[in-house]
Amino acid sequence: MPSLLKQQDVVGRTVVVFDVLRATTTMAAAFNAGATEIRFFASLDAARLARASYKGQALLVGETQCEKPHDFDLGNSPREFTSMQCKGMTLFMSTTNGTRAMVAARNASRLFAGSTVNASATATAIRKAGLPVTLLCAGTEGEMSLEDLIGCGTVLCRMEHLQLDFENDAAVLAADLALRDPDNELFEMTQAAERLSGVNLDEDTQFASITDRFEDLIIHVTDRDGTLVATSERIDT
Ligand code: MLT
Repeated sequence: MPSLLKQQDVVGRTVVVFDVLRATTTMAAAFNAGATEIRFFASLDAARLARASYKGQALLVGETQCEKPHDFDLGNSPREFTSMQCKGMTLFMSTTNGTRAMVAARNASRLFAGSTVNASATATAIRKAGLPVTLLCAGTEGEMSLEDLIGCGTVLCRMEHLQLDFENDAAVLAADLALRDPDNELFEMTQAAERLSGVNLDEDTQFASITDRFEDLIIHVTDRDGTLVATSERIDT
C-alpha cells in the first residue's frame, strides 16, 4: 500500500504497481490499442494543465469516484480504450489510487505497471531486471484491495522457476490466493467491483479478470524530467 511504503522498499529495487480495478488494467488496454505513451499525474488538475500545454495528438483520461470527469476524453474503463481512440495517442492520466501509487514509487530502480491481464509479461520483466522486488498494491483510498493482492499473487505464480524468497507474509498470502482462485472469481466479491457495479461498470470487473489477456505486454514506467511516463514493450512468449 502506498501509505505504508518506505524508501527502502523502493530504492535499488524493481517496483510493480498493481491497480487491477482498474488503472493498471486500463493502461494495458490502452497500450494494446496502440497508445504511444501514458503520462501520469497525481491530480486531475495537474493532468489538465499538462494536456493543455501539449501540442501533439493526446487524450485526457482518468476518473473521480470511478467516473469520467466531464471535460476528460475518456474515463478509466479499459473497454473504452479501443484502437480507434488510442492509436498513436499520448495519454495524460490521473486516477484516484493507481497513478498516485506510481508517483509514490517513482524512486524505484525499475518501475512497472502490473495487473492480471499482463501477469506473465510482468513476471518476465521482473526476472530480466534481476533486482529485489516490491509488489505495490495501490489499494483504495488507504485500504487494501483483494483484487490487487490476487494480481500480485498471479505474477508471483508465474515466476515459479525462480527461487522465491518472500520478504513478508502478504506475499505468501497473495501467491496462495492466486493459486486458489485461478479464474479470479473473487474479483466479483470485492468492494471495488461493488463500486463499479453501482455506476453500471460491472463489465470492467470481468475485463480485468481474464489472466494474460495481454500476455506479451510489459509496461515500463520511467521518470522523464519530473513526469512519470509509461511505455510498452511486446515480448516473445
Ligand atoms: C484508481 O486508480 O483509483 C482506480 O483505478 C479507480 C477506478 O476504478 O477507476
